[in-house]
Amino acid sequence: MDEGARVLHPRMRMRMRSPALWLALVVLSIISSWPSDLEAQTLEQALAPLRDHGCVGCHSLDGAQSQGPTFRGLYGSTRAVHRDGERVAVEFDEAFLRRSVEEPDAEIADGFEPGFMPRFELSDTELDAVIAALASVPVDGPGDTRTWIPLALGLVIFVLGHLALSSAPMRGPLVASLGGEGRFSVLYSIVAAIGLGLLVWGYGLAPYVPLYDPPPWTRWVPNLIVPLAYVLLVMGFTTPSPTTAGMADRASAGPRGVQRITRHPALWGFALWALSHLGPNGDLRSSLVFLGIAFLAFAGMVHIDMRRGAAPNEAWTRYERETSIMPFVAILGGRQKLVLSELGWWRIALGLLAWAAMLHLHRFVFGVSPLP
Ligand code: HEC
Repeated sequence: MDEGARVLHPRMRMRMRSPALWLALVVLSIISSWPSDLEAQTLEQALAPLRDHGCVGCHSLDGAQSQGPTFRGLYGSTRAVHRDGERVAVEFDEAFLRRSVEEPDAEIADGFEPGFMPRFELSDTELDAVIAALASVPVDGPGDTRTWIPLALGLVIFVLGHLALSSAPMRGPLVASLGGEGRFSVLYSIVAAIGLGLLVWGYGLAPYVPLYDPPPWTRWVPNLIVPLAYVLLVMGFTTPSPTTAGMADRASAGPRGVQRITRHPALWGFALWALSHLGPNGDLRSSLVFLGIAFLAFAGMVHIDMRRGAAPNEAWTRYERETSIMPFVAILGGRQKLVLSELGWWRIALGLLAWAAMLHLHRFVFGVSPLP
């Protein structure tokens, strides 16, 4: 099954894979950030003041929940606010919106806390532009252009493409007809990058459909679990493993470091990252993306083990017996020992550093603050 692995040294294959992947990602991100049509461009311009003043960091335009109430459908609507301890209904007309921006704590939107919305010292022209922008936020989200198609395609290509391409019935013949492992890796990377690009692009295009109102405590879940996920990712990617494509021979060296805890550390990292994000989001499109990635991670663990075990291979059979998919199961079962010194403190440090960086970038990249 891994016939071709002998053709190219594993290190070379890794090297061939990454430039193709990066190139495809760069091309995709350029394509996806290209303004699709004039209408969208005009709308972007109208909404620019809300981006310039950082309002969209706390207020979504499409109904998604965030630190403040969404701007979608806000202009001209009648909503409940708290004024001097009383709950009153007000119309969010132009005059009221001006007041909201200049004196945010005079009235507090229902369901929100005072003191979070900063006071903005805007000039008259700036304030006019902000109010005009609020009035141009499309009532039904960014219009009829909302579509599930790219996101659905992205999920199918990213999740099923990964599994299908690496399955024995497809991988073998493809390697043979493409003429080598290296070319197969390039194809694999291109398919994965297209799937990922479609996921990111399609997420932005898909309608916002709330499923439930996430309670504030759900934000603690990723804040506590994602640091662990990052450490697992770093450990998984930096500990040479027989579960990596083309590295099946490594099984004879036996499990080391994090592999003593679980056979699939990096896939656990992806799974924990994805599952922990489900709670605080509570809407359909993000649930689909996170569930898709978690499914791919778990299916990947089972799939890789099945492929490795398909051919009689004593080293792998021993490796599999001495390790476990579920973390710590082999250790608890007495088939394995935890060797802390093999984990590498630098891996823990690097994982936590990457997590801390992402914690800071989260708001700029995804528009919502990850903090509880
Ligand atoms: C740091 C986060 C944050 C930023 C940045 C922010 N807001 Fe808010 N905003 C909130 C929160 C939280 C509320 C709900 C509490 C309240 O009503 O004051 C809110 C409420 C509002 C309301 C409803 C007001 C009300 O009295 O019910 C409007 C309108 C609003 N913001 C407009 C804006 C505009 C326009 C900007 C940019 C110039 C902006 N916000 C920037 C957090 C923010």
